[in-house]
Amino acid sequence: MKKIFNFSPGPATLPYEVLKQAQNELINWNNLNFSVMEISHRSNEFIDLLQNIKQDLRELINIPTQYDILFCQGGARTQFAAIPMNLLFYNEIADYANIGYWSLQAIKEAKKYCVPNIINPVKKKNGIFYIKKIENWILNKNSKYIHICPNETIEGIAINKEPILQNKIIIADLSSSILAKEINVKNYGLIYASAQKNIGTAGLTLIIIKKDLIFNNHKKRQEIPSVLDYKIISKYNSMFNTPPTFSLYLSGLVLKWLKKIGGIKYISKINKKKSTLLYNAIDSSNFYINKIKPCNRSITNVTFYLKDKKKEDLFIQKAQENGLYYLKGHKIIGGIRASIYNAMPIEGIKTLVNFMNDFEKNYV
Ligand SMILES: Cc1ncc(COP(=O)(O)O)c(C=O)c1O
Repeated sequence: MKKIFNFSPGPATLPYEVLKQAQNELINWNNLNFSVMEISHRSNEFIDLLQNIKQDLRELINIPTQYDILFCQGGARTQFAAIPMNLLFYNEIADYANIGYWSLQAIKEAKKYCVPNIINPVKKKNGIFYIKKIENWILNKNSKYIHICPNETIEGIAINKEPILQNKIIIADLSSSILAKEINVKNYGLIYASAQKNIGTAGLTLIIIKKDLIFNNHKKRQEIPSVLDYKIISKYNSMFNTPPTFSLYLSGLVLKWLKKIGGIKYISKINKKKSTLLYNAIDSSNFYINKIKPCNRSITNVTFYLKDKKKEDLFIQKAQENGLYYLKGHKIIGGIRASIYNAMPIEGIKTLVNFMNDFEKNYV
């Protein structure tokens, strides 16, 4: 098999060891002589698997006991609706920070279920984008929570400092940054993330929610579909309906892999190293440009442009010929994007940087 590096933003590259293990276990999981996809989610084996996943998540992210771990289907987009539906009535206000594309999608959906107060913290100075400090945002005094997407996957802009707000519940879409660096769960009321970037594979959404928000603060809207009702999901141990069993299984393997290589403390250092290598390569050239202030650059989605935009298609084509896949930026902003989640080895970044240097020499 040809060695390639896959920079896809999601579904994204998975650890090779995990794929190998899944391959080995595909037709005989747990010595049962059949696959994990063919077993009841009510079986002891599957319930053990689910418990193990929760335990590993608790250890990896340091999730306190006052928080519940829920699994949903329908991706992060479903949570854009489920969150206001569970926590608010129609006439209630929630602050929503518009940091980029995914923030805006969350706002559009929330408008159907509550009154979002939109905050625009992204500013531009001398052509460089930055995010105003969260302490300086003007929040609505009646809002019930603030929604943020601290890592915008498409733009590659991020709030890298842990957000802390007194007297306001923070709800965060961590779809493209969960498990990439250490966080303090206690700073949040609810964290959610689709699995297909850093947790495992598509079909699964992780929700880490303060139990108060499920049980004390819970608004009982009659029209909430039962499968989206946090109280019901919690009561049924995330198995009110049949969960995405293979996706859970694969995510379980990824979490074990992450624990084995040293957990989040270790991977966050590697991720910092990876993104620094790439940003240094961009900043030290006259050929490539990144338009985000260094303190707001994403460590997982590195975006950049070629100063001569006409050469970008050729860059992407030549990169692929050299085994560097899916570097095309999202169509709404163009340019180049390298998504470098936990499973992307540092070797992949070095290969990309060497390619960028060679391309510059050949096509300057
Ligand atoms: C930050 C963020 N939020 C939400 C989504 C939407 O996730 P899904 O397609 O799983 O609904 C994405 C997808 O890439 C994302 O990057």
